[in-house]
Amino acid sequence: MSEEFLPFSRPSISPEAIAEVVECLKSGWITTGPRTKRFEEDLKAYLGAPQVLALTSATAGLHLALLALELKPGDEVITTPLTFAATLNVIVLAGAKPVLVDVDPRTFNMDIARLEAAITPRTRAIMPVHFAGLPVDLDPLYALAQKHKLRVVEDAAHAIGTEYKGKRLGSFGDTQVFSFHPNKNMTTGEGGCIATRDAELAARMALLRFHGMDREAWDRFGKKGSQHYEIVLPGFKYNMLDMQAALGLHQLKALDGFIQRRTELAMRYQKHLAGWKELTLPQAPAYAHRHAWHLYTVLVNSETAGFDRDAFMAKMKEHNIGTGLHYRAVHLYPYYREHYGFKSGDFPHAERIGDSIVSLPLFPAMTDADQERVFRAMADIFGRQA
Ligand SMILES: Cc1ncc(COP(=O)(O)O)c(C=O)c1O
Repeated sequence: MSEEFLPFSRPSISPEAIAEVVECLKSGWITTGPRTKRFEEDLKAYLGAPQVLALTSATAGLHLALLALELKPGDEVITTPLTFAATLNVIVLAGAKPVLVDVDPRTFNMDIARLEAAITPRTRAIMPVHFAGLPVDLDPLYALAQKHKLRVVEDAAHAIGTEYKGKRLGSFGDTQVFSFHPNKNMTTGEGGCIATRDAELAARMALLRFHGMDREAWDRFGKKGSQHYEIVLPGFKYNMLDMQAALGLHQLKALDGFIQRRTELAMRYQKHLAGWKELTLPQAPAYAHRHAWHLYTVLVNSETAGFDRDAFMAKMKEHNIGTGLHYRAVHLYPYYREHYGFKSGDFPHAERIGDSIVSLPLFPAMTDADQERVFRAMADIFGRQA
């Protein structure tokens, strides 16, 4: 096959970003320091958030946010089964029990109509996931959180740049966690951040981010700094490096352009694949929103296609095209079956979606010609006229 492999995702890194990383490497200061501080200021401005903490990953952010809530054994945190395993893992790691609410079969986000039934006297927090960059219906979710006095930690790993009813995620509500993993809408290699409007929570998370130390290295090693510090609690090592922030400063500037191109490509998929009976395409909710299009997912309808999602992914690979699997229903992984008694049939929408979902190639540098290759491969696979 003469054509190069077309990956499902690829980051776009500008010459300016590369130069900034090189500058950082030459500067003599490569761990958390001035570039991380600047990146946090830029994130505050972009998100409209008063408090932002830059971190090694979104997993670290979700972990810190839950730790800072000081959950007790037996406390419950409500989330969705259609997510990356990290969302549930951190609930367990923070000492709480994951309680799941099935997804809306149209949006793949937590079905808010089913949320109240999952709230018990042990519920402490709700962790909605903005799947693929489509915002969860946050107004009724926050109304329930307020009614039952619950915290909300939004897993916004897919959703930097997403808007709900004209407001950017990160600018309102309780606490949001974003990911800068390489396949996300912007990247720092690995990385993430927390946005919150709760100054007390932010202070606790800042301590937990770096050993529980009352001053970070940049403050201690500078000209005016003192080498003394106090440990006020046992913390983690979740601080973002300046090398990562050097990349992030430029990625953030490019983010809206990236989302614009992702949206164009997603709309071309929607148009081209409309009416293909072998597929179910993404559907938009009625409320106003800006989808960040981190992922473009379809469901493979095996009865009409004559083969299943896994076979479709293998056939795409034979056409030299990568796809992604986001996600199988997390409650059916062995740990969650064994420790929480989850079983097939508990969350039928998430299970059906998890068994048939596939992410098609989508990244800002993808050309129209790349996408036409995907269309041709899919027409061939489904035995359609190209
Ligand atoms: C929904 C969701 N939550 C959390 C994460 C964790 O993000 P990170 O890789 O930055 O730790 C991911 C990563 O893919 C994700 O998709």
